[in-house]
Amino acid sequence: MDKIIIRGGKPLAGRLPISGAKNAALTLMPAAILTEEPLTLRNLPRLADIDTFSHLLNQHGVSLTLEGSRPEEFGRVMTLKAGRITSTVAPYDIVRKMRASVLVLGPLLARCGEATVSLPGGCAIGTRPIDLHLKGLEHLGARIELTEGYVKAAAPDGLKGAVVRFPFVSVGATENLLMAATLAHGETVLENAAREPEIVDLALCLQAMGADIEGIGTERLIIQGKTRLHGATYAVMPDRIEAGSYACAAAITGGELELVGARVDTLGSVIEAFDEAGVAITTTRDGMKVARKGGSLKGISVTTAPYPGFPTDMQAQFMAMLTLADGASVLTETIFENRYMHVPELARMGADIQVRGRSAFVRGVEYLTGAPVMATDLRASMSLVIAGLAARGETTVSRIYHLDRGYERLEEKLQAVGADIERAGGE
Ligand code: UD1
Repeated sequence: MDKIIIRGGKPLAGRLPISGAKNAALTLMPAAILTEEPLTLRNLPRLADIDTFSHLLNQHGVSLTLEGSRPEEFGRVMTLKAGRITSTVAPYDIVRKMRASVLVLGPLLARCGEATVSLPGGCAIGTRPIDLHLKGLEHLGARIELTEGYVKAAAPDGLKGAVVRFPFVSVGATENLLMAATLAHGETVLENAAREPEIVDLALCLQAMGADIEGIGTERLIIQGKTRLHGATYAVMPDRIEAGSYACAAAITGGELELVGARVDTLGSVIEAFDEAGVAITTTRDGMKVARKGGSLKGISVTTAPYPGFPTDMQAQFMAMLTLADGASVLTETIFENRYMHVPELARMGADIQVRGRSAFVRGVEYLTGAPVMATDLRASMSLVIAGLAARGETTVSRIYHLDRGYERLEEKLQAVGADIERAGGE
């Protein structure tokens, strides 16, 4: 298994390109199921999760063609054509690898009147049920049965528009319901909908496909169902979590990076958190610039929350950065119950962190030391890379398949801005 070896202590400097957003791509790809015409997605990142999703769509009968970019270029172009859906079953073998597979449920049901999707089961960061997705689809008239580990959903006469009020904010449930509602009979209102920029991206793509959606970017989405949608070409938004992760890397090493393609307007309260921690983010013509305001990093308090609050997907990377801040920090995780798996690994590098309930108390230390560490999930893995870039000596991160799920050409991008980092084959 491959490992990443980092010799820390080099301030990062230069321009680093930001790829298309993984989480936007994973909701735009299933949208292709909603029409028999081609959907062309530009700026698609080169990631293991995209390949897994391609495989899933392919076995539903969606044809996929990749064109354009050579291996050394960023941003692939993929055309997805769901001329005829040949299977409405999403099997356990694929769904267990990637929870986002559950996003085929709404589109399959809306297009074909039936869908059978494996229950995703737990994952490293928590139990992550899909009850909100299922209750929402029931409100649109679907009959749902759980049998032998599968969700069997049926709406033989089509879905019917309704008012769906989510009891709490869920990104995935909002995406599934939004896609399903575009082909339902009549009007659907989604209340307490998630407002993440990836949902705005999905809504804009659906609009380009002919969907009628009002309230984009708000917690109340109003959708007038159509009998059919048509093809479109759409560019995937830049990855705000990738941008935030590299901003942490620039800040912890005392460097200065221009994140090319990054969009400050999608970062929500992450910008304020950086500001309080002593890191300036400024908009440039090509993206955004990150550098410390001068002096050291400062301890802060952050609590994860749905957008525009502080994203749970940035918690681990901020924690790594704050291990070297002056003073104490408190990070409180409110979205997932088991998202502190990076804590013992960071502690092995000399970080001072105590977890009590949902909060992690970080006392800044003078320096971190390189150590062999293990990646446990995608964002936790990135926090170890960030810590390794600033640590004294050598850090070896193993189980890096987690990183390959969500960070396109990580070591290549970091090498180009001065990091001493390489990938090595492991035993
Ligand atoms: C998406 C993102 C993930 C991010 C998360 C929160 C993708 C592919 N993944 O995940 O990176 O960390 O949003 O920003 O876009 N819940 C239920 N029942 C449900 C649905 C969710 O209890 O039916 C709970 C979850 O367990 C979690 C919380 O609600 O505690 C939020 O989850 P949700 O917003 O749905 O996250 P995902 O869509 O799975």
